[in-house]
Amino acid sequence: MFDFFYTRFVTFAAAMSSFEKTIIGNNIQEAAQWLTSGHCVAIPTETVYGLAANALDPAVVVQIFEVKNRPAFDPLIVHLPNIDHVARYTTEFPLPLRALAERFWPGPLTILLPKKEIIPDLVTSGLPRVALRVPAHPLAHELLLHLPFPLAAPSANPFGYISPTTAQHVADQLFGKIPYILDGGPCSIGVESTIVGWENGKIVVYRLGGMSIEDIENVAGSVEIMLNQSSNPAAPGMLKSHYAPRKPLYLNHLEENIERFKHQRIGLLTFQSYPETSIAAAHIALSPNGSLKEAAQHLFAALRALDNADIDLILAETMADQGLGKAINDRLRRAAAPEND
Ligand code: TXA
Ligand code: MG
Repeated sequence: MFDFFYTRFVTFAAAMSSFEKTIIGNNIQEAAQWLTSGHCVAIPTETVYGLAANALDPAVVVQIFEVKNRPAFDPLIVHLPNIDHVARYTTEFPLPLRALAERFWPGPLTILLPKKEIIPDLVTSGLPRVALRVPAHPLAHELLLHLPFPLAAPSANPFGYISPTTAQHVADQLFGKIPYILDGGPCSIGVESTIVGWENGKIVVYRLGGMSIEDIENVAGSVEIMLNQSSNPAAPGMLKSHYAPRKPLYLNHLEENIERFKHQRIGLLTFQSYPETSIAAAHIALSPNGSLKEAAQHLFAALRALDNADIDLILAETMADQGLGKAINDRLRRAAAPEND
């Protein structure tokens, strides 16, 4: 009986998320109409594009999981127009976290807070906290101001693949699965938000991202960093293999790896320029001038470009382990082939 119902339900959800075409445009009213009538819409944020839906309606939120092929244990971030909306969805806002929100919102910071019942369990995967963020992108902000509900939005990529940082990246993979992509240009930050919460009287960082640890510690004092809890799939930005291209990616030891793979077509991904590019069939330098901010902006687009290039494998190097370099390195490590462990 349950199986029968479940099968029917999934079929119904799949039928709802199939469209003849996906429109790419910058019309906020049109995006709002689709969202209000119970559909998913891709939206720009300053970090990456999100796959958004009404966070208060589980029947719509289920479509996000369906479109992304995302496991139900992976909870969603809820996007708000401003800090004043937090009290509607949470029972408590510890002062140190509020101080971070006041300083860094709108911006690439997500805060885990105890949820009120109005947030469906599907959004938090049954966890007691809800992830909240006020995005800085002007189109996302205007859209959120327009809507009578907040937006649940994971990154708008199939589960496990590289996050999208342009409207075209979203269309490349979700064409026909959603009706509308709100095009806000390339994302200015380029890596996902940093996720923080409050445990035993301390600020804990669960995911490295667009807000650097140094910036957070300047406001909040020293924080604890708890990444890579593979035993805790509830925070899957922390899953070991994530953000992964289809082509194998090998990290660091560039010279050795170039020698090892010299009979294959190599795609090279470096931070700054690299002298011997003739050995590579394709080469992308994330920031020829050595800016970590620029490298973060270009990271996911570069991984996608190499994944689609006529090469067999990707050789990449990590950056300095500071500022945004920490988040970039985290993404590269998760994108790497398992034998890099
Ligand atoms: O920058 C971003 O954060 C982008 C844009 C669209 O806002 N969103 C994003 O969402 O990266 P997503 O779904 O790809 O990553 C959300 C991650 C989850 O994988 C999980 O690690 C954590 O946020 N998360 C969300 N809700 C949580 C909760 N209730 N408890 C623990 N972790 C949570
Ligand atoms: Mg994601």
